[in-house]
Amino acid sequence: MLTLQQKIDQAIVNVPDFPTAGIQYKDITPLFLNPTLSQEIIDAFVAQAQGKVDVVCGIESRGFLYGVQIAHQLNVPFVLIRKAGKLPPPTLAVSYDLEYGSATIELNKNYIPKGARVMIHDDILATGGTAAAAAELITLCEAQVVQFSFIATLGFLNGKEKLTPITSNIISLTT
Ligand code: PRP
Ligand code: MG
Repeated sequence: MLTLQQKIDQAIVNVPDFPTAGIQYKDITPLFLNPTLSQEIIDAFVAQAQGKVDVVCGIESRGFLYGVQIAHQLNVPFVLIRKAGKLPPPTLAVSYDLEYGSATIELNKNYIPKGARVMIHDDILATGGTAAAAAELITLCEAQVVQFSFIATLGFLNGKEKLTPITSNIISLTT
């Protein structure tokens, strides 16, 4: 019998030279073709967060896909962290550096209660820049990131090192 990690590894497709030459792209979309595997993935995240998380934040766009289901299975609110300009006010914004240029993410500041224990969920941890910026948004709300959760990590980019000072509770179902 395959482990959950093996099932995920078999489903994810590694696409060479996409979106540009030299980059290997992890296509997670085949996971969503499989309702049974998707439910197992959600259950695994829920098991590690049960009773420890008051709010789940998902990062646009692929962090929305399981994020909202994890939150609702935990019976807690789901809050969208979106790319700049998508959410109506009142928003908070954090900008962060990309390899070329910068990006900004936002959230509705009224949706994160002060002192809330927050899980930040996304599909893939690469450099960690996006997840770290999401954590900054939570800090601006005077709430606390207690867990990061990802389907997969690109280990060679050392994203975990960037997130460990925020919390060492970093769940990744596969590497
Ligand atoms: C990808 C991925 C993560 C982020 C990881 O999203 O889904 O959100 O990059 O990168 P980082 O750890 O280096 O910050 P992308 O911005 O490609 O957008 P998408 O989810 O909307 O496809
Ligand atoms: Mg993304």
